[in-house]
Amino acid sequence: MKLDMFKMERMQSLWENAVDYNLSESGVHPLTLNELLSAEEIKELTGVELGYTQTNGTPPLRQQIARLYPGIDPENIMVTAGSSEANFLLMWSLIEPGDKVVFELPNYLQMWGLAKAFGARVEPLWLKEELGWQPAPEDINRVITPGTKLVILTNPNNPTGSILKPGLREKIIQRVEEAGAWLIADEVYRGAEISGEETASFYGQLKQVAVVGGLSKAYGLPGLRLGWLAGPGELVRKIWTYHDYTTISVSALTDHLAAKALEPDRRLKLLNRTRDIIRHNLPLLEKWLQSFGLQFSYQAPSAGAILFTAYNYDYNSTRLVEQILKEKNVLLVPGDHFELDRHLRLGFGSRPEYLQAGLGRVAEFLTELNKKR
Ligand SMILES: Cc1ncc(COP(=O)(O)O)c(C=O)c1O
Repeated sequence: MKLDMFKMERMQSLWENAVDYNLSESGVHPLTLNELLSAEEIKELTGVELGYTQTNGTPPLRQQIARLYPGIDPENIMVTAGSSEANFLLMWSLIEPGDKVVFELPNYLQMWGLAKAFGARVEPLWLKEELGWQPAPEDINRVITPGTKLVILTNPNNPTGSILKPGLREKIIQRVEEAGAWLIADEVYRGAEISGEETASFYGQLKQVAVVGGLSKAYGLPGLRLGWLAGPGELVRKIWTYHDYTTISVSALTDHLAAKALEPDRRLKLLNRTRDIIRHNLPLLEKWLQSFGLQFSYQAPSAGAILFTAYNYDYNSTRLVEQILKEKNVLLVPGDHFELDRHLRLGFGSRPEYLQAGLGRVAEFLTELNKKR
């Protein structure tokens, strides 16, 4: 099996904790245990038994997750080590060599790389910048055809922060059903909408659908490594067999803490915290981008602490990011890592003063670059 390097994850692993300013992160500044729990609850933690937990997630945790999807039974949920494990299990269990997979681009390329490694023929469904990062209806018709096995989306999208418009959602659902395909929707940014209106899940919208969620982005808890998938009982039972071969289960502490995080009132507080950070920081970033005039052009995100901007420099995006890293010790993500050069993804979920200082360094770099032009 040939597996391509997951370039974005590798670059982040190498640099995110080493640079002066990490503006490559797609989530918001993470919470501490002290911010998540009361003193009483932290004391209770010392009594949590560090045994194996139920391998598909404990009933209390799956009960909390089930509240996020109307009409779902906890048996339709599998708890995983991050949404990345859920994505992995879906690709591993669903793809056979030669399958046709339609993959939304630009996108987080985990399932793109895995689908190819498992032998699929992967065809892009492009979100178009000029359409506000939506797919063109004619492209939906053209790429989702009888014989398509899977259609993979990230909604809200990474890196653009766009949310599929209702008519296009329905068109995709209709085409997937007509093709007899499966729809896989990575919904890990659900809950991080600027408007405060939670994006409707694809769960339950068609028979052959699996959705993925997790606590890393909208909840500000990536270090818990807690994700899940939800789908039809038969699929979830099949995936359990695969899960037994990967991580078996999440850690007992993670399971316990995730159930706490998803208690209704606390969940709302976490989502409001994320939305407040995004609402506060996005104008700072937009003001900064606009100060460069026509050198940047972008569609503002609707969700997530990420903005995907085109730039007007005659520079490949990986090269540009590498230069900024080398000269200014700031990490950004190149458009190349989403299969779209001449773009940058800027993460703006950190503390405002940190964000401003990081952007200040990038501004120095760009000013020097402009002088050389
Ligand atoms: C769309 C998407 N899915 C999955 C992941 C993996 O997240 P985690 O495993 O922390 O839940 C990411 C991380 O950036 C992402 O952007």
